[in-house]
Parts: sequence; C-alpha cells; structure tokens
Amino acid sequence: MKVLVVGGGGREHALVWKIVQSPLVDTVYCAPGNPGIAELAECVHIPADDIDALLDFAQAEQISLTVVGPEVPLTMGIVDRFQEAGLEIFGPNQAAAQIEGSKSFSKDLMAKYGIPTAAYKTFTSRDEAVDYIEKQGAPIVVKANGLAAGKGVVVATTKAQAIEAVDSIMLDAVFGDAGSSVVIEEFMAGEEASFFAFTDGTNILPLASSQDHKPAFDNDEGPNTGGMGAYSPAPVVTEALTTEIVETIVKPTIRGMAQDGCPYVGILYVGLMIANGKPRVVEFNARFGDPEAQPLLVRMKSDVVPVLQACARGELTISELEWHDKAAVCVVMASGGYPAPYEKGLPISGLDEAGALDDVMVFHAGTSFQDGQVVNTGGRVLGVTGLGTTVASAIERAYQAVDKISWPGVHFRTDIGKKALNR
Ligand code: AMP
Ligand code: GLY
Repeated sequence: MKVLVVGGGGREHALVWKIVQSPLVDTVYCAPGNPGIAELAECVHIPADDIDALLDFAQAEQISLTVVGPEVPLTMGIVDRFQEAGLEIFGPNQAAAQIEGSKSFSKDLMAKYGIPTAAYKTFTSRDEAVDYIEKQGAPIVVKANGLAAGKGVVVATTKAQAIEAVDSIMLDAVFGDAGSSVVIEEFMAGEEASFFAFTDGTNILPLASSQDHKPAFDNDEGPNTGGMGAYSPAPVVTEALTTEIVETIVKPTIRGMAQDGCPYVGILYVGLMIANGKPRVVEFNARFGDPEAQPLLVRMKSDVVPVLQACARGELTISELEWHDKAAVCVVMASGGYPAPYEKGLPISGLDEAGALDDVMVFHAGTSFQDGQVVNTGGRVLGVTGLGTTVASAIERAYQAVDKISWPGVHFRTDIGKKALNR
C-alpha cells in the first residue's frame, strides 16, 4: 500500500521512519518532508496546509492511508475533506480538532465531564480579564484562546506580568485572531508529563509514557519553546498513575466527545501536571507530540500501520502495544536564538558521523538542502535520539551523537532526561 505523511518536522521524520518498516507498506510519500525524510520516503513539494493540493495528490496517487502530523491542517478540516472524497485518513476531523484549536472548547469539555484541570475563566473583554487578575492575584496563567504555535501561554509570576500578557494578546493582537479572547487559569505546580492514546472514537489504546522539556534552557529556565527534548519511559508516570490517567482523563474525554456528537479519532495528546501523585490536564492536543513522537516511535515494537488504519476505520480492537525494553532520549538541537529570531542557512556538519553510531537516530526538523549541503532553516533543527538499556545510558548515547554535530550558534539543553534520573 501507499502511505502519505503530512508534515515536515522531526515528528514526521519519526513517523516516516516507523511506517517504512511496516511489511504492509510499499511506498511512503511525505508532504513537504525534509532532507532527512528524503532518505526514506519520496518528498512531495506541497505545504502541509495546502489541503486542495494534498487531496489532488492523494487521489492521483491512489494513497491508501494519509497520516497527518501537525495541528494546522487538522483544524483546517483536512480529515473532513479526505473522508468526503472517500479516502482513508488518520486524525480528528475539524470539529474534534477543536480540542486543541480552542482552549475554551477543551476547558468547557473538561468542566462538563469532570475531568481534572486548573480552574479557569474565558474573557472577551480586556477590562474584565484585568479585574479578574486583580482579584485572583499571581501566580496566574494567561492563554490566547486559539492556536498560537505553542507560544500563546504566559505563566505570570506577578499581576503586572499577567496584565501585560492580556494586553499583548488582546490589544496588540500578537497572535492575531487567536487572541480575540483569553483564558485565564489557576497556576498548577508540579511535574509535567505527556500521555498519548490512539482512539477510533470509542476504543482507546494508550502509549508508553514520555516527558517533554519545554523551556529553552537547562533547569527549565527561559522562554517556552515547542519542546527542547523528550524521553520515554517517564518514571513520574507510574503504573498506578497510568491507570488513573486512563480512567479519569482519557476515557471520559473520548466518551464525552462522542456523547456531544463530536467523536475524536486519532491520537489524543494529554499534557499533564502531576502533583502529589495526582494528574491534572494542562492541555489537550489533537496530534502526536513533537519531540515526544521521536522517542516513542523508536521504542514502539508493534507495527504502527495497522493501528493507524484501525483508528481511521473505527475498528480499534488492538488492546495493547508492544514496546522495546530500551529507553529512548531525544535531544533537540536548535538554531542559536530560538525561540526568538535566528540566523538561517548555516551548513550543518557531522550528520553522517552521528547517524553512524549504534542506537542513534538523527531526526531532521528545520533543515533543508542548499548547494548540496544540509543547512538549518527552522528553530528546532534536529532531534538526536539515542537508545539505551536505561534512561542514563540513552542520555549518554544521545549526547555522544550531539557532540559530533555542529553549526555556528547551535543551541541545545544539556539536561534532557535528568528528571528521570533524579527519581
Ligand atoms: P499549553 O500550551 O496550554 O500547554 O501551555 C504551555 C506550557 O505552559 C505548559 O506546558 C506548562 O508548562 C505551562 N502551563 C500552562 N498552563 C498552566 C497552568 N495552569 N499551570 C502551570 N503551568 C501551566
Ligand atoms: N512537545 C509539545 C508539543 O508537541 O506540542
């Protein structure tokens, strides 16, 4: 069969890497892909948000299964369009993708079905938002209501900072329409983890645990990014906690969406805050995490393709995934300055040397080919992923590979996975 993967980041490189290993698959296409993906699949020059062109391509090539990586095409309704055309596609439809695309949608869903999360209020008036902040005090969290590429959240430690965030979201409209309303939330202390489950709208299939590292610098300092590294398994998510997450969060969410006439199909990403052994939802996303997909897919022993198909068909009868015993750690190598503006087009050295190490996968994200060389073109450039018998040895392996790669200004965190060691 022919599979099309939509997207061109590290998550999609990992998806393609996993999908090409399936005995069910003959050809994998990726739109738009990247130079790393091009070594495994045929890259097609269609942007991930050009749904008309993607649909034309899938019809012309008789694609059997399309797998959507990023959130933007999902919130634009790519799944609805493919299904109307009779094509099989993995991901939530436009209505269900609101779970990520609209903070107030997901907060209202959680309130309705008693899913544990921070207390919140939605505001369309700047002055009412400011009054609320004055009454509640700090720390407090201010979020643009719509999609803002993971950057629309301010965890304010003072009231002044919170009010400044409301003003930049609502008055200066730094996130455009995404900021026409704001959600203001109670600050939750604790340790974050990511939890994923495949679902066909009714049945669920949980994945292994993982943890992201959102802040740009070591010790979780600096501004939030899309994620500077991830590892799996995450010891903070014990077996008992997994059961609690599934029973009190994942199942009621999937049941609630179905009950509301908006069944959720695809992979549900639950961003969690864990305090005193209790999980609460920070956010839902409608897709695989990036970079969490990299360590998770490297550890997955089961063929992922039948799972993706079963979800898309509403026939998810597989009750358990098999995992390799090894731990995996992904260190993101980013452009100097990210998440602020950075210099692009700088040649990257050492890719082959790093990739030749045993138990190492170098996933590409923001790279492109220029004059026969691989150069940086995005903020997050590479996801260097190492495997090991323990998290400690996976960390060592990943950083051995990182040390072989460089370009001017390269930045990475040196403490990815450390939280696992501290437990
Ligand atoms: P979000 O885009 O909603 O995941 O928020 C981005 C990041 O902001 C999260 O990964 C958390 O680190 C932080 N955050 C969001 N909401 C809260 C909250 N209510 N309490 C504490 N931290 C939060
Ligand atoms: N790793 C964060 C995200 O994928 O949104």
